[in-house]
Amino acid sequence: MVGIQVAYVLASVLFILGLKGLSHPRTAVRGNLIGAIGMLIAVGATLLDRNIISFEYILIGTLVGSVIGALFALKVKMTAMPQMVALFNGFGGAASVLVAGAVLSESLVRGGDVGMQFLIATAASGLIGAVTFWGSLVAFGKLQGLITEKPVRYRGEQVVKVLVFLIALYGAFKTIQGRGNVEWYWVASGVGSVLGILLTIPIGGADMPIVIALLNAYSGMAAAATGFVLNNSILIISGALVGASGVFLTKIMCDAMNRSLPNVLFGGVGSVVETIKADDLYGGKVKATTPEEVAMILKMARRVVFVPGYGMAVARAQTPVRILTEAMEKDGIEVEFGIHPVAGRMPGHMNVLLAEENIPYDKLKEMDAINDTFAQTDVVIVIGANDVVNPLARESSGTPISGMPILNVDKARTVVVIKRSLAPGFAGIPNPLFAAENTLMLFDDAKKAMEDLVKAYREAA
Ligand code: TAP
Repeated sequence: MVGIQVAYVLASVLFILGLKGLSHPRTAVRGNLIGAIGMLIAVGATLLDRNIISFEYILIGTLVGSVIGALFALKVKMTAMPQMVALFNGFGGAASVLVAGAVLSESLVRGGDVGMQFLIATAASGLIGAVTFWGSLVAFGKLQGLITEKPVRYRGEQVVKVLVFLIALYGAFKTIQGRGNVEWYWVASGVGSVLGILLTIPIGGADMPIVIALLNAYSGMAAAATGFVLNNSILIISGALVGASGVFLTKIMCDAMNRSLPNVLFGGVGSVVETIKADDLYGGKVKATTPEEVAMILKMARRVVFVPGYGMAVARAQTPVRILTEAMEKDGIEVEFGIHPVAGRMPGHMNVLLAEENIPYDKLKEMDAINDTFAQTDVVIVIGANDVVNPLARESSGTPISGMPILNVDKARTVVVIKRSLAPGFAGIPNPLFAAENTLMLFDDAKKAMEDLVKAYREAA
């Protein structure tokens, strides 16, 4: 029907405009809405297509999916977003496997010849979808703390992965060669499932954001392949958009961590030698401070930089951060924010939280833009960040974050670190910054510490 094709074109345009909007915090909310409207049109148009088998089932599925999606959106905390994204990627992959498998079985029952495009797309859906589903489940388990978050490595790992990949590929080939052999399809999907697990368990620590982005790309590719199976143009387009943006995000994440993709997938971070002992590093060198002392130091400063991290998100401390920023600016102090690309637990995490507080975007500086200014900064307030300011990352090997570029806060005159204890961050290693000569530790929950600091700053002469 022409009407449906027109609706699909409209939905595709809205998807692209939505993605464009998502590329900047200022337009992100609008972009999200535009994308959602596009999806509504796409789903609505698909449901109007009377050629669809079991129209009622699709409608029920859409309603159930909407309720589950709404519950997730309302219940899941901002800090648990990566796990949720991992699960959603996984469900996309599983849907591709099941839909392609069902269409294959159905078309064979109906008889008649199936085309080469259909066969290749079906095999690709099964294989990539299975890798996505199981890889995402493992990533979810790691991020949720259900399985070890550390990289799981073993002797002969790369050989095993290559072998399993070749077997999965053989299954896909036999599916095609057998003109839609369903048994081989499930073999390919089953071996693909094992491959998904094998590809994800050796990855851990600071590399998890890259894996989530990659699984995102896979889920898009699987969806696009299923679009070819169903001959559904909107699924091809939306799958390709998800796949392409996932690839870009993977590239951005790799650059942020100073890693290459092959290095993340097959690399050697698992061979980390844990030689750094927290007690040796901190013993007698850590200086605790109070909000009153920090307020006095701030009063004398001309330039202050906030470096937010995961702890600010957990504590939801961004409101007092904004209040203190405004108070300092009133006193003529220049205030900026140093944002590390992997601070927090999802891309853009800090930007979103600070944007919610209406902190102007031009104050949020990316790592490369702000790193050279730390030497001319009087005070850096590190709030709930740890790995992204850990100087151990400068070591070329030996730690899970080795080689990752960091915010060079240790170059500032005074560094105030707000966190509850000397506990490590996501990468699980101690941080020499906490014992540095110019560092003061303000031990407290980030929100409580910031509220106390606002009060002390107002009371300071
Ligand atoms: P982390 O290194 O994880 O450190 C966060 C710190 O926040 C912890 O050391 C913790 O110390 C503190 N904290 C927790 N709750 C707090 C609270 N209520 N009040 C005050 N402090 C609190 O965070 P980061 O520096 O933002 O680095 C991010 C890490 O996550 C990187 O390793 C990155 O690779 C990884 N990661 C990032 C992403 C993305 S895409 N951003 C996704 C997955 C993983 P205390 O317990 O002592 O308070």
